[in-house]
Amino acid sequence: MCGIVGYVGPQPALEVVVNGLARLEYRGYDSAGVAVLGGGSLRTEKRAGKLANLRKALEERPISGDGAGIGHTRWATHGAPNDVNAHPHVDNDRRVAIVHNGIIENFAALRMELEEKGCKFLSETDTEVAAHLLSSEMAERGGDLPAAMRAVCKRLEGAFTLVATSVDDPGLVVAARRNSPLVVGRGEGENFLASDVAAFIAHTREAVELGQDQVVELRADSVAVTDYDGNPVEVNEYHVDWDASAAEKGGYDYFMLKEIVEQPRAVADTLLGRVTVDGQLTLDEMRLSPEDLRSVEKIVIIACGTSYHAGLIAKYAIEHWCRIPCEVEVASEFRYRDPILDQQTLVIAISQSGESMDTLMAVRYAREQRARVLAICNVNGSTIPRESDGVLYTHAGPEVGVAATKTFLTQLAACYLIGLYLAQVRGLKFGDEINTVIAQLATMPEQVERVLGTVEPVRELARSLADTDTVLFLGRHVGYPVAMEGALKLKELAYMHAEAFAAGELKHGPIALIEDGLPVVVVVPSPRGRSVLHDKIVSNIQEVRARGARTIVIAEEGDESVRPYSDVLIEIPAVPTLLQPIVSTIPMQVFACELALAKGNDVDQPRNLAKSVTVE
Ligand code: AGP
Repeated sequence: MCGIVGYVGPQPALEVVVNGLARLEYRGYDSAGVAVLGGGSLRTEKRAGKLANLRKALEERPISGDGAGIGHTRWATHGAPNDVNAHPHVDNDRRVAIVHNGIIENFAALRMELEEKGCKFLSETDTEVAAHLLSSEMAERGGDLPAAMRAVCKRLEGAFTLVATSVDDPGLVVAARRNSPLVVGRGEGENFLASDVAAFIAHTREAVELGQDQVVELRADSVAVTDYDGNPVEVNEYHVDWDASAAEKGGYDYFMLKEIVEQPRAVADTLLGRVTVDGQLTLDEMRLSPEDLRSVEKIVIIACGTSYHAGLIAKYAIEHWCRIPCEVEVASEFRYRDPILDQQTLVIAISQSGESMDTLMAVRYAREQRARVLAICNVNGSTIPRESDGVLYTHAGPEVGVAATKTFLTQLAACYLIGLYLAQVRGLKFGDEINTVIAQLATMPEQVERVLGTVEPVRELARSLADTDTVLFLGRHVGYPVAMEGALKLKELAYMHAEAFAAGELKHGPIALIEDGLPVVVVVPSPRGRSVLHDKIVSNIQEVRARGARTIVIAEEGDESVRPYSDVLIEIPAVPTLLQPIVSTIPMQVFACELALAKGNDVDQPRNLAKSVTVE
């Protein structure tokens, strides 16, 4: 949440910072602002609303700087999303400017203290206390911005990334992090700071990970990292394995449209290189030994939103293949219920961004309880995999649209790989059984491609439903979490009432919602797998149809038994039951995206949301 950019170098700082913000806007779009240093003074501009408003203001009243600049795109927490509360915030003498991601939990006490000393506050934000504190600490330290930043960090409680610049040292940008993301980009004679590498990928692919409670001093020709006491610390440098084109729309009107189409590649890349020449599944990067995995007695999956839905599906596969009890829990609830964990518990934390605060806090709690934690993550070097015992990276490439699409499919692929790997190391299945499923998994990119080739009628259907208020989703078995994912997509993109139910649960109450013409999307399990499940859902379709529902049925091609009860039939390829979510989710994504577009919504930046939720 909130995107942050810092730059020091010979290029026009304003341009570099604003272009960087454009690539981070998915992190928050309530307001945007910049500060550059020029002619011995701080020049700032900030505007409520999307970055376009800031760009317009800068066109009308241009500002320029001499080499250092910082910028921010906001997802509001403290204070309304207006011009005044937009970042950067400055001290009363306009000597320092600061941008912030996170929440300063003790801001009220600090504000009172600073007001008593005579500081005048302009905004309602928690961030502004950091600007005044930084200024006062600098005054006590002869204008030493890094030392002042370290002192400020020691006084703050909560989660924060702070990036600051000062007229006292115009070639310097200083940043600090605690529980909020921050990465350094190393260029030639220039350096960058950002919440995520996308902001500087057009300039450099060489990045530096920063640990918790570290402060970085960025100059054009140097990057120095210390802890909060000023001791130098070792940093981990890495090369980003994708380039700027991966984070561009590539001819599509929206990132989401591009990311849906990228799904076959994303799934293929996630499966790539996982099988040795002798047919053994190998998850080298995982960092957990076969002995560790053999000792696991219980699995707990923690995640939020779409990643949670991936976890719900994983439970079916893991319990079926490995016979290990598996619980799935929304990360924000996990640590508050006193869960039973020990060294024999494997916690799997699923997070696309690797930065969701709810999941991170659950990971920390699990490790405190001595459980082993395995992350499934799409962002290299992000906090959750860094703090976990092991990681399996999905290789979806950058996902910019706020709604998760290709990363969901790759999370499913990763979950299946983990399930099969556990079965392999625990000797629960014969090698050829595992190889059969791996071979089925290997065909999934092609099946996804096939589904994408047949979704035009889904688009037409979505457009025809643009004036609908409510859509219900039903599923059974792995189709139930798919239905939940379909409902989530529709809520977040089309701002509609969308709700998913386990189809068998409908008769216990929700069936009262059915009225004439109400669209009900039903995910039908394969008739070839568990025919009893299939037959039950066919009855459920008839029950809602008898009460006037308009049935939109997603079923395997050749499943003629559902045709008589389907007002709209969406056919998907026949694949094994447990793998069906990889194909059945796609029509849901397309449906929600198209319906939202028909309503005139911005599908990349839905209202009130942010891609990476770094507050609890
Ligand atoms: C899904 O479309 C949402 N953007 C959201 O539910 C997301 O999946 C959730 O916030 C979890 O994010 P993470 O995977 O980055 O942890």
